[in-house]
Amino acid sequence: MKITSAEFVVSNSDVSKCPNNILPEYAFIGRSNVGKSSLINMLTNRKSLAKTSGKPGKTQLINHFIINKNWYLVDLPGYGYAKVSKSAKKVFQKFITDYFSKRKQLVSAFVLVDIRHKPQPLDLEFMQWLGENLIPFSIIFTKADKLKPKAIDKHIDDYKNILFESWEEMPNFFITSSSKGIGKEKLLDYIESINNTI
Ligand code: GTP
Ligand code: MG
Repeated sequence: MKITSAEFVVSNSDVSKCPNNILPEYAFIGRSNVGKSSLINMLTNRKSLAKTSGKPGKTQLINHFIINKNWYLVDLPGYGYAKVSKSAKKVFQKFITDYFSKRKQLVSAFVLVDIRHKPQPLDLEFMQWLGENLIPFSIIFTKADKLKPKAIDKHIDDYKNILFESWEEMPNFFITSSSKGIGKEKLLDYIESINNTI
């Protein structure tokens, strides 16, 4: 898919104030600093459409970006930054949970995980929660520029093994690097293929 336009629409902390139309949307979620906002900029060829930072906790609201005037990318705050409890539901700010449980326009979530790290309980718990709530999701491995190809393969095998403990199938996954542009076409083509079925 070719991106012809990408515009910021609105930020808010209340799911009821998100854009009130029926365009399909895709949300990026994951730990703070994993690269959600950077990936939005990479996919849209825009340096600072979404605000990024080396410090965790930069994105604090639900941010809607309209792409090609007919679908949305949604940038969300990271979880795991304001750690208040081990229980996933308490850790995720309430509006993130609200967003995922109430937003009917959400077609799929993308759970971003840093390719360098072992599967983290918080990410696995969040995927479990999405599954229990029947919210489709794919996994996006970020920062692939930080590892050599062999290490990437090994990491993904390890991840699969952990996921197979609780899932019958490995969710769809994508390998990306925002700094090197890796994974852009595959991810955009995947979104396009879903948009074409709606
Ligand atoms: P929050 O908004 O705090 O939840 O973080 P975020 O997930 O939106 O992360 P953000 O995109 O702000 O990126 C965090 C840091 O990781 C920044 O310093 C980015 O430059 C860096 N980063 C993001 N993606 C990549 C990548 O693909 N490769 C490398 N090497 N660095 C990356
Ligand atoms: Mg961000």
